[in-house]
Amino acid sequence: MEQPADDAEWWKHAVVYQVAPRSFHDSNGDGIGDLGGLLERMDHFSWLGVDAVWLCPIYPTPNRDFGYDVSDFCALAPEMGTMEQLDELIARLHERDIRLLLDFVPNHTADDHAWFRASRSSRADPQRDWYVWRDGAANGGAPNNWLSRFGGSAWEWDEGTGQYYYHAFLKEQPDLNWYNPSVRAAMHDVLRFWLRRGVDGFRVDAAAVLAEDDLLRDDPPDPEAEEMPPPGRLKRAYSDDRPETLGYIEEIRAVVDEFPDRVLLAEVDVASGDPGRFYGFDTPRFHLPLNYVLLDCSWEPDALGAEIDAYFASVMSHGWPNWVIGSHDKPRIASKIGYDKVGIAAVLLFTLPGTAILYQGDEIGMPDVEIPRDRVRDPFALRVPGFGLGRDPHRVPMRWSPGPNADFTTGEPWLPMGAIESGSTVAEQAADEMSLLHLFRRLIRFRHSALCPRDSFRPWRNQAGVMLFERHGRAGRHLVAANLSGGRRLLDLKLRGTVAISTRPDREATRLDGPLELKRDEALVLHIESD
Ligand code: NOJ
Ligand code: CA
Repeated sequence: MEQPADDAEWWKHAVVYQVAPRSFHDSNGDGIGDLGGLLERMDHFSWLGVDAVWLCPIYPTPNRDFGYDVSDFCALAPEMGTMEQLDELIARLHERDIRLLLDFVPNHTADDHAWFRASRSSRADPQRDWYVWRDGAANGGAPNNWLSRFGGSAWEWDEGTGQYYYHAFLKEQPDLNWYNPSVRAAMHDVLRFWLRRGVDGFRVDAAAVLAEDDLLRDDPPDPEAEEMPPPGRLKRAYSDDRPETLGYIEEIRAVVDEFPDRVLLAEVDVASGDPGRFYGFDTPRFHLPLNYVLLDCSWEPDALGAEIDAYFASVMSHGWPNWVIGSHDKPRIASKIGYDKVGIAAVLLFTLPGTAILYQGDEIGMPDVEIPRDRVRDPFALRVPGFGLGRDPHRVPMRWSPGPNADFTTGEPWLPMGAIESGSTVAEQAADEMSLLHLFRRLIRFRHSALCPRDSFRPWRNQAGVMLFERHGRAGRHLVAANLSGGRRLLDLKLRGTVAISTRPDREATRLDGPLELKRDEALVLHIESD
């Protein structure tokens, strides 16, 4: 595996490609993407040049939350495929120097998981305490006011045993009781099970919500959130991000560190404060608490520059930065900033210091797809309607080539494909060197050949709506210029150099010896000539 010269940890320079397997490629015509489909599409990963593939959950599931409700942590969903296929996938990716990361869902199980079935069978069951059971409040009703992220109370009454159980998400996703050492030991063994199979790490789901306040104190109202969807109207002071969770994360990390060279990505809310605690101080926690700044913040140039600066300021002393431009949970970058600016997002993603993470379809600029009412599948959309919270629009199947269902399936796709514009599929863009897909590929190659993880980073002042920063290292000085102004710009930077990469491929390798002209929505990397 090619190691960056000045930094041995592979994940620091890595490009991680997130796959939602249900929507990647279907090999058997049931309309659901699967491991067979991943095996068939393996060339896409190596052609693009990614270093790691992260798969959303592939475990047995009743699909109330599309795989994030796991019925058995150490098995595969029949519709995904077989263990033999997974072993083949790992082996064939490794042959290509590509790592495989799985999703680890520690906070909850599906309600048909054997552990929960035992736990709810009787108050005397040995696994009763594996989940969070409580009596109702003295005056009747749920034990406290905590809210499910997916709407309504976070407590569900169980008629059979006369108590409530806690669920941060759906009632069909009961929370595990992480205070219980047997639960932690069982979850550690889940990690070891996959690590022994050759998996290179995990993305840890809902990683900050493992523990809840043991006193069950009510969450206070959030005065700033009155207009928010109902699940967001309380501050999750006692039901989220408790100090105990950080200790459990350290234990998870220690298990992963039993195996060499593995990595932990984690879904936490880094925007809500100092992300340092998720990296750990003396005792390590996560390698990469995921950073969604590029997806969440405004793309007004000064605002974006300030967010990037604030993120670096909060992360640099603790750990390694990372950047994400897509996710199965968030509106697509192409829909957020417009297709014409996706090239700018790619330039930032691959040239800002830190690990780069993209989501399937970002490389062809896939947009969100409007889902007809009768095809909505996401429980979030169904349970909290009217706020545009549905995640189906970002989860529609990959578009491989023109033709029926964009060659995703020979059957009926589980979500609609949406209207597919000419030139928007992988095959068409692969055949067109001017395409977005080729830009992603060139940028990844450039990153691996000309940048090093610890090349210095120096922001410049934004000029006329153009964001500017410099990377300096073994391959010299590079200036990154991203024209977010919405118009053409001419900047007198008093520099000479050669365009290494541009969103306009025709100007690559051209010399600059005078003012820098940037077309609308252009971003480029200039190799600065030293005097
Ligand atoms: C975060 C996952 O990314 C999301 O898709 C899921 O619904 C929740 N966690 C619950 O597991
Ligand atoms: Ca299938």
